[in-house]
Amino acid sequence: MDKLVIYGGKRLKGIVEINGAKNAALPIMAGTLLVEGEFIIHNIPLVRDVFTMSEVLETLGAKVKIEDHTAIIDTRGAVGYEAPYELVKKMRASYYVLGPLVSRLGRARVSLPGGCAIGARPVDLHIKGLRELSVKVNLIHGYIEAEAERVIGNEIFLEGVKGPSVGATINTMMAAVRCSGKTIIDGAAMEPEVVDVANFLRTMGAEINGAGTRRIEITGVKKLNPVEYTIIPDRIEAGTYAVSGVITNGDIVLRNVIPEHLDAVLKKLEETGAVIERRGREIRVKGQGRIRSTDIRVSPYPGFPTDMQAQFMALLCIADGVSVITETIFENRFMHVPELMRMGADLTIDGQNVVVRGKPSLSGAPVMASDLRASAALVIAGLVATGKTEVSRVYHIDRGYEKVEEKLKRLGAEIWRVRE
Ligand code: EPZ
Repeated sequence: MDKLVIYGGKRLKGIVEINGAKNAALPIMAGTLLVEGEFIIHNIPLVRDVFTMSEVLETLGAKVKIEDHTAIIDTRGAVGYEAPYELVKKMRASYYVLGPLVSRLGRARVSLPGGCAIGARPVDLHIKGLRELSVKVNLIHGYIEAEAERVIGNEIFLEGVKGPSVGATINTMMAAVRCSGKTIIDGAAMEPEVVDVANFLRTMGAEINGAGTRRIEITGVKKLNPVEYTIIPDRIEAGTYAVSGVITNGDIVLRNVIPEHLDAVLKKLEETGAVIERRGREIRVKGQGRIRSTDIRVSPYPGFPTDMQAQFMALLCIADGVSVITETIFENRFMHVPELMRMGADLTIDGQNVVVRGKPSLSGAPVMASDLRASAALVIAGLVATGKTEVSRVYHIDRGYEKVEEKLKRLGAEIWRVRE
C-alpha cells in the first residue's frame, strides 16, 4: 500500500488548480442512466471514486471513456439494474444509481452499503424518498430491491434525525424527474452539489425549481435528453489547500473555484488570522504568522462542512489558545484524533466535541489514514510538523484528491509517494 512521506516546515507558495467536485461528479455520472444516449461530462476529477463509479456504470452496460477530465458516457445498451455488493462496499455512493434506474427501467437492485469509518450512515431516507414516490422497496439478502410500474409524484418530508441528507435528496430528485404529477421535497439538503445535480437534470429537460433551498419542486416530464455538462469545482479540495496554505504561513492562489461555496470555511480561516482575497474564480490565501484559536460547529450547508472538520482540527492544533470543534453530522468522525496526538497534538474527545489545546508545533511521526478527510488532515499536519511524517493507507486520500502530492510539491512542499 502506498504511503506519503512529508518533511514539514516549508511555506507553500504559488497557484493550485482545483478539480471538479467529486461529490457532484458521482451522482451526475449515475444520472446519465436516466436516458439512453451519449453524455459528455467535463471537469471530472481523476480520483478513485470516479473510477469506481465508471465500473458501476460499466457493470450496468454503459460505456465510459475518461480522457483529460472529460467523461464520455454512452448509456445506449445500459440495461442492467443491479449494483453488486463488490462495488457498493468499495464506495457507498454507488447507491446513486438507485433513483435513475427506478426512473428509467422501473426497477433496481442495489446492495446495502453497510457501515463506514465515519459512522453508521443509514440509508432509510433514500428508501423513504422512493416509497413516497409509490416505488415498492424491499430489503432482502443485503440488497435494496426497488420496483415501480409508475413513479407517482408526492409531497415528501425528507429530513432525518441528523438533519437533511445530501444523498437522499439527490436520489429522490433523480427518481422523481419523470414522475406523474409533481413532487415536493421538503427538508431538502442545500449543498452546492445538490444544486449542480439539479442543474444537470434541468439541462437534460427536467423541470426542477428550488434546488439550493429547503424545498425542491419537481414536475415530472416525459422526455429527457443526453447532454454535455460541466461539473462545479470541488469546494472541499479548495478548502483543504486553503488550510494547507494557512498552516504553513504561506501565500497561495486557488484557481477555478466558486468562492461563495466556501463562505463558511473562508470566514473561519479569517478568524484564525489568515488574509483572504476573493477575485472572480480565484481565492488568494495568506497566512499571517501564529494561528488564532476559534471554535467550530459543523452543520449542513451553508454551515461549516463536516468534510472540512478534520483539516481544521490539524490547523487548530498549532493555534495560540484553546478551540472546541463540534461534529454534529457523523458520530464517528474523529478517527484522526489519536493520529494527530501521535504527532504531539493536545486533543481531548468529549462526546461530539474535541477540545484542541493549541501548541507551538507538531512533530513528525508515522501515522495512519482512516478515511478521506482524516488523511487530508494528517497530510496537512505533516506539512508543518518538524521532521518526517509518513502517512500510510493513502488509498483513502486518492479517493477524493487528484494528484495530491504533485500539487503540494508544486506549491513547495517536501512530499513524495512511496509505492509499495
Ligand atoms: C455526502 O454524504 C458526502 N458524500 C459526504 O462526503 C459528506 O460528508 C456528507 O454528504 C455531508 O455533507 C457524497 O456526496 C458522495 P448525508 P451522504 O446523507 O450523502 C444521516 C467525503 O468525504 N442519514 O447528507 O452520505 C447520515 O448518517 C464524504 O467526500 C440518515 O440518517 O451524507 C448523516 O448523519 C464523506 N439516513 C446525515 O444524515 C439516510 O438515509 C447526513 O448525511 C441518509 C443519511
